[in-house]
Amino acid sequence: MKFFVDTASLDQIKEANELGILDGVTTNPSLMAKEGIRGDENVINHYKAICEIVDGDVSAEVISTEYEGMVEEGRRLAGIAPNIVVKVPMIKDGVKALSYFRDNGIRTNCTLVFSAGQAILAAKAGATYVSPFIGRIDDISWDGMALIEQIAEIYAIQGFETEILAASIRNAKHIVDAARAGADVFTCPLSAALGLLKHPLTDIGLEQFLADHKKANS
Ligand code: E4P
Repeated sequence: MKFFVDTASLDQIKEANELGILDGVTTNPSLMAKEGIRGDENVINHYKAICEIVDGDVSAEVISTEYEGMVEEGRRLAGIAPNIVVKVPMIKDGVKALSYFRDNGIRTNCTLVFSAGQAILAAKAGATYVSPFIGRIDDISWDGMALIEQIAEIYAIQGFETEILAASIRNAKHIVDAARAGADVFTCPLSAALGLLKHPLTDIGLEQFLADHKKANS
């Protein structure tokens, strides 16, 4: 299972990369805005900076919502670095753009996916990744993880090669459940991934080991 960090913060990306287990980065327009990145040139330069830190896939989202604009923007983004993956929203023109990118050797991440039907369209259009938003589904009292299970089942039956990227992950349980449900990738803020580390018995055990070592060596 791949681990992508879901942020546009260079500090957070560097910290995640230093763990040695980072496989990529996902961003979106909200995350870019949160870092104060505005204007085409600054956006491009920011993606360049991310790609200099990370060898793995870096998702860069288009802003356009019509086909021609998405194609133009996606081509520009894909030209930044070989590891850029163009992030395209699950709308009608987005499906058309995904097909264009597939036919032109540009890798994609289909975003804002909330149903198995949308995931089928993304796979049919040749998306490299499909991003079901777990947390946002849970937020409206539906079952985000059930969607991952459905998509994993459908993709296995149909032999679709699109990778399932569990997105909008909020905590360590989401990550473990997504792994069990068949997600290929999880993306989340670094804090959620670091939640995987936590167990009180690890803390108690370590404290005991260190105390015993100190006693034996004093
Ligand atoms: C995915 O690529 C999105 O950037 C992200 O996971 C959305 O998460 P949120 O629902 O926490 O904003």
